[in-house]
Amino acid sequence: MTYTFVTLFSNLIEGYFKDSILKRAIDKDILKIKYLNPRDYSKNKHFKVDDTAVGGGAGMVMNPQPLFDALDDLKSKDEDVHIIFLTPVAKPFAQNDAKRLAKKNHIAFVSGRYEGIDERVIEKYADEVFSIGDYILTGGELASLVICDAVSRNIEGVLGNAQSLEIESFETPLLEAPSFSKPKNYEGLSVPSEYLKGNHSKIRSLKLALSEAKTKFFRPQQLLKHKVQSH
Ligand code: ADE
Repeated sequence: MTYTFVTLFSNLIEGYFKDSILKRAIDKDILKIKYLNPRDYSKNKHFKVDDTAVGGGAGMVMNPQPLFDALDDLKSKDEDVHIIFLTPVAKPFAQNDAKRLAKKNHIAFVSGRYEGIDERVIEKYADEVFSIGDYILTGGELASLVICDAVSRNIEGVLGNAQSLEIESFETPLLEAPSFSKPKNYEGLSVPSEYLKGNHSKIRSLKLALSEAKTKFFRPQQLLKHKVQSH
């Protein structure tokens, strides 16, 4: 998988790939990371990339020209690149999207700064548009990293242990049961006794009960979905 981050601020992104799982995947040639700066395509003599909004409104909007040229250049090199824009005005990103996108060969993430991106760019180039939640970030960079990370762990070879992909929260409507590591007793706090006894069917039913309790508390709507599906 190749990821191209189309951003004015690649420094905000680069650090994330310098350690841990995604670094290992890059070292193994499973992932390749590229950057494209719209400012490098600006035809303005001061390399400006933004302007005030036509029709008024607060803040600066990213101009179409540098992004049109950057994205034309990108597409001329790979016509199959899948272009994703990050904006709070979009469909919420979810685990099923992460799994689906993991099958692509090349994804480009276009991050807006300032008040946003001229809508004509999105209309012309977006294959998809995602929000990562109902809050406003200072730009799309963090959102693009969140999606990149969630997609990458679904690409074969990225996670060491394929099993860790098997049963996860959001694969079913239920949230995952809590996990515990060693020691079994820490500062007087024990892990649930059924976890210690090794009866796997009892552990399974306890985990299901704990999953349901967590879901009821944090995501009551999800619990209803689970009940409908399991009847
Ligand atoms: N850019 C600013 N806020 C965002 C959000 N919540 N999701 C995606 N992109 C964004």
